[in-house]
Parts: sequence; C-alpha cells; structure tokens
Amino acid sequence: MTVFDKIEELRKLPTLPTNLSRLISVLHDENASLRELEEIIKRDQAVAARIVTVANSAAFGQAGFVNSIEQAILVLGIDLVRSLTVGISIFHSFPLPPVLLKHLWAHAYSAATVSNLLARKIRNTDRDVCFLGGLLHDIGRLVLLTIFPRDYSIVQDAASIIESEKERFLCTHAEAGSHFLRALNVPAEIADSVLYHHSIDIGSPHRDVIACTYLAEGLLQILGTAFASDSLWTDEHQNLFEAYGLTVSDVEELAAMLRLQESEVQAFFKL
Ligand SMILES: [Fe+2]
Ligand SMILES: [Fe+2]
Repeated sequence: MTVFDKIEELRKLPTLPTNLSRLISVLHDENASLRELEEIIKRDQAVAARIVTVANSAAFGQAGFVNSIEQAILVLGIDLVRSLTVGISIFHSFPLPPVLLKHLWAHAYSAATVSNLLARKIRNTDRDVCFLGGLLHDIGRLVLLTIFPRDYSIVQDAASIIESEKERFLCTHAEAGSHFLRALNVPAEIADSVLYHHSIDIGSPHRDVIACTYLAEGLLQILGTAFASDSLWTDEHQNLFEAYGLTVSDVEELAAMLRLQESEVQAFFKL
C-alpha cells in the first residue's frame, strides 16, 4: 500500500463529520441557500460555536454582538461562513493531541487571514476561496501525522521539512494535503493552493488564487507572528510579491491585522 493509498483511506476516518460531503457539495454550489447552510452548521454545535467566535472577533468589529449563526452569517457573509465551516470541520476531524491541533490551527488561521487580505489586493481572486486555501494549506501535516505518528513528529522539527518529508515518506505535506482534499472532492482551486503552497506553479489556471496562499505562508515567516511558518521568505516570494504591485505598506497592514487576531486564536480553543 503506497502512502497515497493510505491517504485515500483517511476518507473513512470515523471522526469526519457525516455531513461533510453535503457541506462540500454546498461549497461547489454558489446557489446553495442560506437556510441549507444554516441547517448544516447547526447540526454540529462545536463548529457553530467556533463560527460565532470568529464573527465576534475584533477583526470584524463586532465584539460581543453576535450570538447566533444567523447573526454570524450577517457579519461574515455566507461565502466566508461556508469556507469556515468546511475548514473547521476538516481540521477537527483528525484524532490528534489538542496541543498539537491548537498550534497548527493557529498557524492555519493566521495564513487564512493573510491570504484573505492578499486576495483584496490581487485581481482574479475570490477572498473566501483564498481564506479556505490558507486554512487548509498545511492539512497534509495532519494527514502525515495521522498516518506516521512517530516518524512525522521527528520530521516536524527538521530544518527543511519538505526535503525530510520527501526522503522519509516519498511525499511532502503539500502533496499529502492536496491528495486528501481531492479524495474528499474539495474544489480544484483549493486543492491546488495546498499542492503549490511551497513551490508555486505559475502555469496553473488558478495561479492568482495559489499565489495568495503561497505568499501568505512565506509572509508569516517575516511578519513576526507567534505562530511560525514552515516556509522561508525567498527571492521567489519577493519577486512574485513585487510583480503583483505589493509594497511594504501592505506588509505593515497585514502585520497589524495579525496582532489583532492572536488573542482571538487563543479564545477559539477555550470553547
Ligand atoms: Fe506548509
Ligand atoms: Fe504553513
């Protein structure tokens, strides 16, 4: 059995929400009704509570005001709530220690915030798709940790995580994550964002969406966030950043948003 066969087997994780496939089909369907989404979210109280927490965050300027899913959708918009619901449901399906999940979620949520803000500045991108790409970009680390719990813990500490993954598992976390998401039938632009978040494919039809996740992962390394990145900021990142017309003032704006958000990430896990 290859590592990719094992990844496909994870589709049968008993902890994956039973309504995940319906949720993903809602993700494909821009005409899905508000009521349908509300119904799905309300079936999982843990997911619902986390969405209300995000809607109450300072980043959306509504602290303490939101106390229902209906209000959360009003504040965040249906598309962002749809992305958040899918991201939270997939993330929390992995039977891994809470401390580890907390750290990886904090990193993922920071990347999602940066990717979402970059999408405002980069044309041809959908902000909510970029948010979900950021949220799921390192899902392959959870996949490999689940399949190889002992060996992957060693790799996590490696200076060059990608090279170590190739050597040990013949599969990087970018490939593992993308393969897993395709097996779940997650839209191609999200799976491609995950696949190319460490080495961008400029020939991809989803190039601009991929760029948001790729740059977000690199930017976390230089933004001084508490939730460090597993990427470096390279010349390739810098060149792409400049090619999109982005500047130092954009970096300052992103850093300010991340500072606002760090205490909220902690609150997210006290639920
Ligand atoms: Fe990564
Ligand atoms: Fe990452």
